[in-house]
Amino acid sequence: MRNLLSLFDLSTEEIEAIFSIAADLKAKLAKGVREPLLQGRVMGLLFEKQSLRTRVSFETGMAQLGGSSLFLGEDVGWGKRETPQDFGRVISQYLDFIVCRAKSHERVTELAEHCTCSIINGLTDLFHPCQALADLMTVQEEFGSLKGMKIAYVGDGNNVSRSLALACAKMGAEFAIASPEGYELDQPFLIRVDQACPDSFVKMTHDPFEAVDGAVAVYTDVWASMGQEAEQAQREVAFADYQVNKKLMDAAAKDAIFLHCLPAKRGQEVTDEVMDAKTSRIVEQAGNRMHAQKGVLVWLSQQNG
Ligand code: CP
Ligand code: NVA
Repeated sequence: MRNLLSLFDLSTEEIEAIFSIAADLKAKLAKGVREPLLQGRVMGLLFEKQSLRTRVSFETGMAQLGGSSLFLGEDVGWGKRETPQDFGRVISQYLDFIVCRAKSHERVTELAEHCTCSIINGLTDLFHPCQALADLMTVQEEFGSLKGMKIAYVGDGNNVSRSLALACAKMGAEFAIASPEGYELDQPFLIRVDQACPDSFVKMTHDPFEAVDGAVAVYTDVWASMGQEAEQAQREVAFADYQVNKKLMDAAAKDAIFLHCLPAKRGQEVTDEVMDAKTSRIVEQAGNRMHAQKGVLVWLSQQNG
C-alpha cells in the first residue's frame, strides 16, 4: 500500500506522473467533464487542526472523481479512546484513503504503520507534501517547466518550506531560502535531501535579497505556524526584515510570480500590494491544491490496485 507522508515517498518520475494526471483532469474539468475514476472509493479526513483549503479541496476533488468523503474530527477519539493499533486496524477496513492533518509528524507515521489503506499527509509540523505539489504545478503552468528555474522562499524553515525544498530538489528546480538565524531549515533534513537528490541545488542564506536574485517565483508563509501561537510576538521581532514587499519582489527576476500557501497574515510576512499584484498567483495556487490532489488520489489508486 503506497502512502504520501512526505515527498521522500515519491520519485521524480512518480511526481511527473501525478502532475500529468492532475493536468489531464484539470483540462477535462474545464470542459465540464468529471470522470468517475474513484467511484465507490471512500476517503476519511482525520484532522487535528483547522483547515480551509486542504479539507475542502480534497472533499470536492473526491466528489468530482465519483468517490465520497467523511470528515473525522475530535469525535472519533484518535489517540484518546483506544490504542493506535486498534484504531488503525479498524478504520482502514472502512476506508480507501485517509488524509491526515496532525500536530506531530510521528502521529501520521504511527497511523500509517497500523493502517492497511493509503495515508496522505494533509499537513504536519514537518511536512506539507500536497501543498508543495500544488506549488510546483502552479510554477510549471506559468513557465512551462521546472528544470533550472529558481524558486525563492523568504521566511520560516517550516513544514511548507521543507516540502517545497524537497519538491524543487526532486524536480530539478533551484531552491533558495532566506530565514533569520535560528529559524533555518535543519541540517539533518538538508542532508537527507542531498542523499535523496544528489544533483539538487538548495541554498540557504540570511539575506532575502540574495535569495530572490534571479528567482522566477517568490514564496512566503506565516512567521508563526499553527501550534506556535505563543511564539508570535518573539517571531515578529525575528522576522521583521523578512517581509515580502514590492522592493523585494522588484529584486527578483522580471515578471517573477508571488506564491503563498495561505492563510496569510497580510501586513506581516507579505504586503497587500504583493498579495493583490498582477504577478500574484495565490488564488491559482490554492485552486491547484484540488487538481494536484486529484492526481495523488488517482495515482495512489492505480498503485494500490
Ligand atoms: N494551505 C493550506 O493547507 O491551507 P489550509 O490550512 O486552509 O488547509
Ligand atoms: N506553516 C503553516 C501552513 C498552513 C497551511 C502552518 O503549519 O500553520
